[in-house]
Amino acid sequence: MKTSRLAIAACFVFLALTAVSAQTPPDVTLTANPVYEKNCAKCHGKTAEGRHFGGPSLIAEKATATSADDLRNMITNGKGRMPKYASKLTPEEIDMLVQQIKAANKK
Ligand code: HEC
Repeated sequence: MKTSRLAIAACFVFLALTAVSAQTPPDVTLTANPVYEKNCAKCHGKTAEGRHFGGPSLIAEKATATSADDLRNMITNGKGRMPKYASKLTPEEIDMLVQQIKAANKK
């Protein structure tokens, strides 16, 4: 009885450790980025798969095929109904989003 409790406790410690390491950059994914959740999810969806009447999928091939420069440009300056983020996000935050969109597409 005592050993199995210990084993369970050890499992929890292990799970907690892997959960923490999964959150540290650069492993953090687009949809787990607080900047994305706060600014982009309402149009592009919590899973980044896009929303009807919102924005297109950011993990589909079209976004994949777009160059990092074009993605950065689109987020910075906006396009159509896509708002511009030049004054709302820092260049570092935008860069992070670009990298994460690129990374999401490699899978
Ligand atoms: C008000 C809704 C809205 C918000 C908020 C929004 N977007 Fe968009 N986004 C759009 C729409 C609509 C488009 C399609 C624009 C077009 O092609 O005319 C788009 C297009 C894009 C594209 C190009 C996709 C492609 O396949 O070419 C990227 C990249 C993008 N958005 C990233 C972001 C990021 C990152 C954020 C948060 C910082 C964000 N968007 C916030 C509505 C939104």
